[in-house]
Amino acid sequence: MSDEKLNTERRDFLSKGAVLAASAGVAAVSVAPSVAVAKPASNVGPIEVKGYVKDPKNLKEVLTNAKKIMDTCAACDIAGPGRCNGKGPCGESTPGMGGKRRSFINNVEAFEKLHFNMSTVHNVKKPNTELELFGVKLSMPILTGVTGGLTYNMGAKGKLAYDGTEMTESKFVRGIVEGAYNAGTLGWAADGIGDPIETYRERLTVVKKFKGRALAQIKPRTQKEIFERIDAVQAAGAPFFAIDIDSAGRAARALPGKTVEPKDVKKLREIVKYAKIPFVAKGIMTPTEALMCVEAGCAGIVVSDHGGRVMSSTPASLDVLPGIVKAVRDSGSDMVILFDSGVRDGGDVLKALALGAQAVLVGRPFLRASLGGGAKGVEMMFKKMHTQLVSTMVLAGVADVKKVPADIIYKEA
Ligand SMILES: Cc1cc2nc3c(=O)[nH]c(=O)nc-3n(C[C@H](O)[C@H](O)[C@H](O)COP(=O)(O)O)c2cc1C
Repeated sequence: MSDEKLNTERRDFLSKGAVLAASAGVAAVSVAPSVAVAKPASNVGPIEVKGYVKDPKNLKEVLTNAKKIMDTCAACDIAGPGRCNGKGPCGESTPGMGGKRRSFINNVEAFEKLHFNMSTVHNVKKPNTELELFGVKLSMPILTGVTGGLTYNMGAKGKLAYDGTEMTESKFVRGIVEGAYNAGTLGWAADGIGDPIETYRERLTVVKKFKGRALAQIKPRTQKEIFERIDAVQAAGAPFFAIDIDSAGRAARALPGKTVEPKDVKKLREIVKYAKIPFVAKGIMTPTEALMCVEAGCAGIVVSDHGGRVMSSTPASLDVLPGIVKAVRDSGSDMVILFDSGVRDGGDVLKALALGAQAVLVGRPFLRASLGGGAKGVEMMFKKMHTQLVSTMVLAGVADVKKVPADIIYKEA
């Protein structure tokens, strides 16, 4: 099914007012305290933040809530709670919230194919998961993915959320950003192709609240529009920003005000020059293009195929990661290399780090967590992934996320 048809169907679905997902009827409970990891950097001042009225009890409840509100193949549990492997009963070409079937499956399978050399003869008991990214201290090498679009991506806009209030885009973003903040890491506010600057500015008010501890992404619009949005992102205090240049697929049918386009080295360089904060190019899938980003002066890249959402037959992002890392490092560049697409648990995080990523972004799991449990849900998901990461590090004998040896990955003799 084409994206356009899918989106039309989702809009119809919404306009028919289909199924106001029942409020989960969750009783007010106190949740476990914040993630047992380092808190945000000490230079962060106190922040007035209020959570949802009713907090979910646990991650299971969060995922169940998300399923009620989404009510599409997006919430399929085929490969475990909240996990889609692209082979579910939806029978569509768009598994897992819009992944192109083959690309999506490639991402999932690449992680499944990789294994660790288990190692228990060492003295690594309390591995260090902290790191610094563009001067920001993080409790773990995990950030939320850049996700948005309650209406056209999730079929959730206007539905009743688990806490009995209406689900809105700003509530979704708040859940992502606040949950990541509470876990000592970073979450993203997304830019939608159809979002006018006023809508974008409104979204950035959430980023601003978190004083340098929340990020923003910009679509690959015309240069003029990008510059206008960079001004807004900087005013909101984001420590760095990304442009998902892999969203350029709609260039050929761009409409005024909704123009996205590929960016050549010259245009990337103009963006680098204009911005006063580090610019990360998101959606890099070949060593050649990674080197072009080095040439343009990008501060970082995200090796990503957009979670398999933008092109129908891409190799797994994980499979292209080692080649990209090698090319960049061989060139003498220390450009930051981030990764996303297919990361589902702490073990997957360690696999990506072993292949050379410095940190990962995780899309769909945090998206579900925010829909089903707001900031608390997102924080719970971070806590779960952090626990998995730590125990996998112990069992692989890795002491520090900043120095993950490649040879923890099993290779057949
Ligand atoms: C519903 C949805 C919406 C997304 N919207 C954006 C977006 O606006 N900008 C962007 O850079 N990436 C967007 N992405 C892609 C994610 O940032 C990320 O690359 C992808 O989800 C990673 O794959 P994962 O979900 O397997 O972790 C979106 C992904 C999903 C699932």
